[in-house]
Amino acid sequence: MTDFETILLERKGRVALITLNRPKALNALNSQVLADLRAALQELESDDGVGAVVLTGSERAFAAGADIKEMADKSYMDMFLADFFAGYEQVAAFRKPLIAAVAGYALGGGCELAMMCDILIAADNATFGQPEIKLGVIPGMGGSQRLTRAIGKAKAMDLILTGRNMGAEEAERAGLVARIVPAAELIATALEVAETIAGYSLPAVMIAKEAVERSYELTLSEGLRFERRVFHSLFATEDQKEGMAAFVGKRAPEFKHR
Ligand code: CAA
Repeated sequence: MTDFETILLERKGRVALITLNRPKALNALNSQVLADLRAALQELESDDGVGAVVLTGSERAFAAGADIKEMADKSYMDMFLADFFAGYEQVAAFRKPLIAAVAGYALGGGCELAMMCDILIAADNATFGQPEIKLGVIPGMGGSQRLTRAIGKAKAMDLILTGRNMGAEEAERAGLVARIVPAAELIATALEVAETIAGYSLPAVMIAKEAVERSYELTLSEGLRFERRVFHSLFATEDQKEGMAAFVGKRAPEFKHR
């Protein structure tokens, strides 16, 4: 596995663990973090031995936002010409399940990065928010769109316009968070969830992710048709034959991820 400057990448069987590693800056997301994340995800996407990925930070901060010090002096033209933050589209387009294990601060870009993931597991000390308004800007990595879809207009407006933070329980009630666990159990739980998913047929898992994501873009009738077509396509896999034969034969399936 490649070494990176701002993240740690470990493999545990069919699961990969990415840890954001800028502790002195509370994992603020600068351009190097994005470059490292993109390179790591590209490596993991092309590796058939990887079935799911956990993305985490530290106990104190998943990430306290985009790096304010890096952005502070930029001009409109700097931001426009670089299409600043556009590189995160590659993170959101990762085709295998990405599980965010969030402890501590997930603010601004940190909350937005967590929302690019497929399952958000929060430690009981997790804090979410979009405080960009306090800096004279607005969310720029998807917060106004993904947070609104995740928790609805009322709460998204409340958070984005006041800049207030939301604790793990409120985030779970609002539908942002899938599960809350004690902080000490966060990584173990996220890895366990990832292992479960990575044990299933990889093509089925990837197509399941794609189908759920399509629900954000398509009408219901188009989405249902898309789902049916990709459901049909799974009957071309060895794993569908194995999964159903194992059920009928009352034994555990041995998926080949093919
Ligand atoms: N960018 C750059 N550096 C950051 C940072 C950020 N987003 N968040 C924290 N840091 C740095 C601090 O500057 C500090 O560095 P120094 O020791 O060199 O001064 C270090 O991390 C520790 O932070 P604090 O001393 O502030 O720690 P704290 O415990 O007192 O406060 C905090 C923690 C409440 C999270 C506070 O750091 C904070 O408010 N951070 C900024 C949160 C924020 O505004 N995020 C949104 C950023 S903009 C954005 O994300 C745009 C977008 O839509 C993508």
